Amino acid sequence: MNENRKLFLKNVDKIYDSASKRSPGELQFTYEGILYPTTICSLGNFQALEGFEAIKDDVILVTYPKSGTMWVYQIIQEIVYTATNRSPSSDISLIELGAPDHLECLKQQPSPRVLHTHLHYNNIPTSIFKTTAKKLVLFRNPKDTAVSYFHFYNSSPMFPTFSTWDEFFKHFMSGKVCWGSYFESLLTWNKHLDDEDVMIITYEDLKEGLFRWELFLLVLNRWKGRNLVAGVKQIAEFLGFPLNQKQIQAIADQSTFQNMKVNYQGTHSQFAQALFRKGVIGDWRNYFSPAQNQEMDTKFKEYLGETKLGAKLKYDTYCKA
Ligand code: A3P
Repeated sequence: MNENRKLFLKNVDKIYDSASKRSPGELQFTYEGILYPTTICSLGNFQALEGFEAIKDDVILVTYPKSGTMWVYQIIQEIVYTATNRSPSSDISLIELGAPDHLECLKQQPSPRVLHTHLHYNNIPTSIFKTTAKKLVLFRNPKDTAVSYFHFYNSSPMFPTFSTWDEFFKHFMSGKVCWGSYFESLLTWNKHLDDEDVMIITYEDLKEGLFRWELFLLVLNRWKGRNLVAGVKQIAEFLGFPLNQKQIQAIADQSTFQNMKVNYQGTHSQFAQALFRKGVIGDWRNYFSPAQNQEMDTKFKEYLGETKLGAKLKYDTYCKA
């Protein structure tokens, strides 16, 4: 096991250990009205983040939790490191993670750095928007995101547990979960869909292979069983690393749910269980009651119904009961 990996696992153990010593009420804290997990975020780091300096070659993945972060993070890493001939780092470079010294560690990373944040648009360090750093933004339909988050809360010791889905649903809908409201988070991005150096993608498009060539590729890729190829190609082009077909295919093959699940079990021990659960679209159908469907449909319409971002999420295709 390489040193990076050992350090990562030591940190996971430390987080789990620190979580086990806290009461449920101590596992989360509020910063500027939004909840964060105490074991991995700190007030000091939020303050230090105001001085975070982005570099023009940075690649920043922005996600709401449980949207497929690890999946796309791995794809980006593979693209960048294939193109630059470096070996992928094992850690996820969440900028709001840990204490201020974490930001110092990020400064040491070789360029192009692959960074990540769950912060809402308005809380992302402004230097990121003042550079040509590429901002890849990933969202997932709200119903599957909520179900995935429910399981993550209950399988990660760093979050308080919820005894029922119904109880979690209320918290999710009111934004009383870590990194705040799904709806607020998405809404802040709606004005930035066409910004330079920004690309917004969805979990569903990546999963179905519905990128630029849409239906043709859907048929072709399903036939080949390789839905991810189109997505990987599009991300590589956006990042400015046009790879050849063989390289793209290799990255897509490594990034299927099954392959990632197996690989991470070998390297991320118990953390992998929490990260790779089902990896499907539509699991929400096993959880949502008719009343919860109604409530989510109304809320989605209220926040995103008439927006371009709302249309991009294809709510009627993926979320209608
Ligand atoms: P489920 O809980 O619905 O299975 P994040 O990385 O943001 O925490 O997101 C986790 C969700 O992405 C989980 O969803 C996980 O299974 C899914 N996921 C992870 N890797 C994936 C992959 N390669 N393909 C599809 N889904 C994946």
